[in-house]
Amino acid sequence: MDNKILFDSFRINHTKMKNRVGVAPMTRISATTEGFVTDKMINYYRSFAKGGFGLIITEGTYIDDKHSQTYQFQPGIAFDGQAQEWKKVVDAVHSEGGKIFMQLQHTGPLSQENRFTNETIAPSSVQPKGEQLQFYLGEGPFKLPKEITREEMNEVKNSFIESAKRAESVGFDGIELHGANGYLLDAFLTEYTNQRSDEYGGITENRVRFLVEIAEEVSQAVSPNFTVGMRISQSQVNDYMYKWSGKEEDAKTIFSALGESGQHYIHVTEFEAWQPAFNDNEPKSLVSLAKKYSQLPIIANGQLENPERAIEILNSGDADLVALGKGALADHDWIKKVQNDEPLSKFDADSVLHPVANIKDFEIE
Ligand SMILES: Cc1cc2nc3c(=O)[nH]c(=O)nc-3n(C[C@H](O)[C@H](O)[C@H](O)COP(=O)(O)O)c2cc1C
Repeated sequence: MDNKILFDSFRINHTKMKNRVGVAPMTRISATTEGFVTDKMINYYRSFAKGGFGLIITEGTYIDDKHSQTYQFQPGIAFDGQAQEWKKVVDAVHSEGGKIFMQLQHTGPLSQENRFTNETIAPSSVQPKGEQLQFYLGEGPFKLPKEITREEMNEVKNSFIESAKRAESVGFDGIELHGANGYLLDAFLTEYTNQRSDEYGGITENRVRFLVEIAEEVSQAVSPNFTVGMRISQSQVNDYMYKWSGKEEDAKTIFSALGESGQHYIHVTEFEAWQPAFNDNEPKSLVSLAKKYSQLPIIANGQLENPERAIEILNSGDADLVALGKGALADHDWIKKVQNDEPLSKFDADSVLHPVANIKDFEIE
């Protein structure tokens, strides 16, 4: 199979990637208790760049000293001091020829550990489904969140803006707003977690408003050559099967609005990126709907580590880049292996997925 398309360079805004394959954002809970980058993290990120990935998107990183932290040992970019330590990761990735975006995350209702507060916030005070993820050192039900006030919404916006500026100041090529998986922004989008009666709740157009405003304001606050994008999903870490009830109409409303927000790309994550979005007779994938309605560059994610799948989705024109999660963990040198036609490793959840164990493997003495 002709795999050339994987290795074509691609530009999003002013960020020119040497190929079309990126590393998906993956929480590693390997920072210090105070949210500072560790040497292990520097070497971990460097090893993907060394293995040839054109773009690396960092793990979700918290943005303020209020309600945004999700996990114990999660890194932050809430302070200049934390940003300065990230510079070492940026420099390591750049020295190997990779580009790097930081994923900015506000946890909203799904915090498992926050050293700044015991309280969680969400669009509405709705008990999150499911239980905390043990894999990230949590247990038992999530806390019942308090309804976010309008003043707090402005503070959250401001924290996204300030964190994006900090990321730019230490050399990141861009940022990705975490709008997926049930965290704060996605909780606005999701019908049952957003029961607001103001202009941020109700119809889909209202539920996407907060995401659009953040994308707009962040895009305006950074310099024009700094890249801004947003990750979107239907599935949530605590509700895997969640689907948008308005189907393609919802996709149209959401992606059109995000496409006009001034940001540069959308990153779509689905369980299997190529599958029909709504499990009915309609064959369109969420990736293709994102492309159709946003008209922006699209990064596709979801079991695309099989090169044939990745090539197919790029050739279809629905996606411009693919991002690998577990496939990248299994093979930090996936790019080189595919280029040289070498066999790929089998993903082994026990040895590869455990954050600390995985990071240890890439420690450089
Ligand atoms: C260990 C691990 C940590 C993850 N952490 C994040 C995260 O911080 N932010 C995010 O948006 N997605 C996160 N994800 C989801 C991945 O980015 C990706 O969407 C998911 O693994 C599916 O892609 P894959 O089939 O290529 O693995 C995580 C996934 C894994 C396996």
